Amino acid sequence: MSAAVLNKPATQGKPPAPPTQTTPTVTARALRVQYGEQLALDSIDLDVRPGEVLALLGHSGSGKSTLMKTFTGIAPFTADKLEVAGREVAKQNPAGLRELRSDAGYVFQHFNLVPRLTALTNVLTGGLHSAGPLNLLGTFSRAQRATALELLDRVGLAHKARQRCRELSGGEQQRVAIARALMQRPRLILADEPVASLDPRLAGTILGLLRDIARDEQIPVIVSLHVVGLARRYADRVIGLHSGWLVFAGPAAQLTEKEVHQIYGTDTELLEN
Ligand SMILES: Nc1ncnc2c1ncn2[C@@H]1O[C@H](COP(=O)(O)OP(=O)(O)OP(=O)(O)O)[C@@H](O)[C@H]1O
Ligand SMILES: [Mg+2]
Repeated sequence: MSAAVLNKPATQGKPPAPPTQTTPTVTARALRVQYGEQLALDSIDLDVRPGEVLALLGHSGSGKSTLMKTFTGIAPFTADKLEVAGREVAKQNPAGLRELRSDAGYVFQHFNLVPRLTALTNVLTGGLHSAGPLNLLGTFSRAQRATALELLDRVGLAHKARQRCRELSGGEQQRVAIARALMQRPRLILADEPVASLDPRLAGTILGLLRDIARDEQIPVIVSLHVVGLARRYADRVIGLHSGWLVFAGPAAQLTEKEVHQIYGTDTELLEN
């Protein structure tokens, strides 16, 4: 990751959409998840390419989180094909699954940081899979710390590096969580409702940051959202799920009221903000 990329501030306008001819990072064909009697996902076909932001929309229980969990083999699935970051997910042994999971940077609604640790240390923990063992004193190397600081700078938080995460605002904590995900040098980012706990202005800041990261690092960002307007503004493409079925797949700009009704039924108030 170059310093120029790391220091680039979040852009305000919408950068051009990524090319559509690159090799997909995620390819799913006939993907299906069943929990006992409950069919959580069925007949999902999907390609997600480097540099693009894919929004997952759908009611609570429609399968958004389950879909993301299949990508790292966390949810049990069957599929004609599920390939993520060049690996056939179903064929991975435990070591392969560990590597696959370290290829995916997760960002969650509730940040999942360690509150008593500083922003810097939380970011450093993101590199624990890939950056090798801690040194003999049980601390992180100078190079690891420099990278973590660069990443905090990338998300606009270098000045809060030594602050404990419990003292940071929600938006700041989510930016630390994004820096932690980047510390893994991920091949894709899976963001499960990353803005559900933030006010609308902060939601835009975080989604703009994720979009810039997708473009700059040329990795896909897959993000579940509950607000249609945010998907329209920040995503390139949208997948709409209804009771585990894919009912819409297309460019965010093509998400009209008709498609929104297909995804949510008529219960669409509060979705536009
Ligand atoms: N581990 C599990 N065991 C059994 N059923 C599960 C499990 N995880 C999810 N489900 C079921 O699968 C369906 C899809 O759940 P999922 O969490 O993917 O929905 P979601 O779209 O992410 O919802 P939300 O918007 O509330 O986060 C739901 O009916 C849920 O109850
Ligand atoms: Mg969910």
